[in-house]
Amino acid sequence: MNIGILGAGNVGKTLGKGLAMAGHRVLISSRDPHDPKHSSWKQEVGDSEGVASFDDAARFGEIIILALSWSCLKDVVEAIDPGYLKNKTVIDVNNAVYFHNGPRLLLDTSAGEIVQTLLPESHVVKTLNTVSDKIMSQPIFKEGIPIMFMSGNNMASKNQVSALLKDLGWVTIVDLGDIRQSRLQESIMLACVISEIQLQSPGSAFTLLTH
Ligand SMILES: NC(=O)c1ccc[n+]([C@@H]2O[C@H](COP(=O)([O-])OP(=O)(O)OC[C@H]3O[C@@H](n4cnc5c(N)ncnc54)[C@H](OP(=O)(O)O)[C@@H]3O)[C@@H](O)[C@H]2O)c1
Repeated sequence: MNIGILGAGNVGKTLGKGLAMAGHRVLISSRDPHDPKHSSWKQEVGDSEGVASFDDAARFGEIIILALSWSCLKDVVEAIDPGYLKNKTVIDVNNAVYFHNGPRLLLDTSAGEIVQTLLPESHVVKTLNTVSDKIMSQPIFKEGIPIMFMSGNNMASKNQVSALLKDLGWVTIVDLGDIRQSRLQESIMLACVISEIQLQSPGSAFTLLTH
């Protein structure tokens, strides 16, 4: 499939590479697609994959991934021609964390719900926010492969996202329900970050142990 990624930072580049390796066509995007900081990614992934403007990546993608800093996401999304995002599956990997006596989440809402409100004619699916970018593709640990959650309002979009997650190497994918459940995923992310700090084990991820 054609995947348009809004963002060309840690997450955008990791997912872009992972999905290109799985046989998808990928455009990542940046404020300055010609910035030399992107050339090593292009060399690594191959010349057929590119770095484009946000508009071009949104137009290109049959599926869109939002991988932007939370602070700029609303402005970037609102500047894109809405027709490029309409009726498409939009994957939200974002976390909206603020700091007040330590890291905190938004109260009474979540990044996933805010993104769905920003894009009422798109099918937002929340996933991958619970792990570090280094684990998003080929999440292989010596103990096995962690669990990945998703949530969203549209079942066909969740089926598309489940297939993409499998292409990235995820095996156990749990559908938590509609997009309001992204609050659970964002809480899991914060619990994971605090666990990593306390246990001094960066690059951790949760799994379910079964008898
Ligand atoms: N990194 C992780 O381990 C991780 C894990 C889970 C979830 N997330 C979430 O994923 C999202 C992206 O994280 P990241 O680590 O990839 O961030 P990042 O490396 O800092 O990349 C951020 C992207 O946002 C763009 N951007 C920043 N400010 C902008 C502005 N004012 N206007 C337009 N574009 C702007 C940057 O554009 P330029 O290319 O033009 O600089 C870049 O492409 C965040 O919401 C984060 O919470 C990250």
